[in-house]
Amino acid sequence: MNVSLKPGSLPEGERGRVSLDPLESPTLPSRYYIDEGIYRQEMEHIHRKSWCYVGHISDVPEAGSYFTDTVGEQPIVVVRGADDVIRCFYNVCSHRGHELLKGAGRLKAKGIVCPYHAWMYHLDGRLNVARLTENVRNFDKSQFSLKQINIAVAAGLIFLNLDPDCMPFEEGMRGFAENIEQFLPGAKDFIVAERLHYDIKANWKTVVDNFSEAYHIPIAHPQLSKVLEREMEELKAERRWTFNRFKSKEGFPGLELKRGSPYYAWQAWPNFCALSLPGSTNLIVLRMAPDGVSRCAERVDIYTPEGQTDNPKLHAVRDLFMHMFNIEDISIVESVQRGLASNGYDQGRYICDAEDSWFTEYQLHWLHMQVLEALEAGARFKA
Ligand code: FES
Ligand SMILES: [Fe+2]
Repeated sequence: MNVSLKPGSLPEGERGRVSLDPLESPTLPSRYYIDEGIYRQEMEHIHRKSWCYVGHISDVPEAGSYFTDTVGEQPIVVVRGADDVIRCFYNVCSHRGHELLKGAGRLKAKGIVCPYHAWMYHLDGRLNVARLTENVRNFDKSQFSLKQINIAVAAGLIFLNLDPDCMPFEEGMRGFAENIEQFLPGAKDFIVAERLHYDIKANWKTVVDNFSEAYHIPIAHPQLSKVLEREMEELKAERRWTFNRFKSKEGFPGLELKRGSPYYAWQAWPNFCALSLPGSTNLIVLRMAPDGVSRCAERVDIYTPEGQTDNPKLHAVRDLFMHMFNIEDISIVESVQRGLASNGYDQGRYICDAEDSWFTEYQLHWLHMQVLEALEAGARFKA
């Protein structure tokens, strides 16, 4: 595990101090899931400092196409410029702070126009026209460009980082794009077939935690467990992302699969989870966006090659995901969140083995060490 934490700096709970060794460590104390102060720190040191997934290049197919979003409680807009460059800005006007754009769409020739006093911006963020400023002393338009945010594109997926001094995407995410493209060739040309939204009554980590471990699969997802072979085909763990390749048995309900059909899962720090189910070409991205300490706005984006959006097998995958796995998981994480808030619980144990087997909770520990590392680095920076 590639984290810089020192054992002495790890938090303690009722069952003891968290350890860098998953075989020895109690789990993250429950206050990390319910404490407003820790949530504020996460916002500052995780969601506003990490590379966060927001969408796909096909969401901005031509000059003027844009979409808005909220990351780390900050309103942002992603827009493709007249020069074909995709940029990201804070979605806020430089005049008096009105939000600029809503939803998604395509801008006309005027560029970005603020709905409050109609300041107009070029698609590259430069202020173009500001009404009645002729008499304003020392008014310099170039000082009022939109504030730009770093972006990175990997396998067609767009990530942004709100920290102007962030570590380059490639540093933590080396090999991520190549890995997706190796198993899903042409992923950068996929388009979104469907976007689903779930308002979950659980901390964002409770939801990501659940995705990160397969220990619960045989119990919570009996159908899924019947079709997953136990031996792992491949496991990759890099600084900020992991990849698991499984193979299926026959009989995935609703899909006619050959034995050994591949099933892929990716996870990237902090809240990107993705999978590709067998039976059709698909990349299902889940983003667990924090929405208060005990709520999570989960977005599920189903990507597929153009022309495949009406493929009945893709619909079968979507239905399986919506009506089975995700429903099963949402009920679990909401229950866990209520339990984490209970006085009857503080810390459990990570169920791991020396081989880091995929059906254990070693990835859960990996994730929690990154949470602690980010918060610790934030505290160090402030000191
Ligand atoms: S706040 Fe945007 S033009 Fe005034
Ligand atoms: Fe699950």
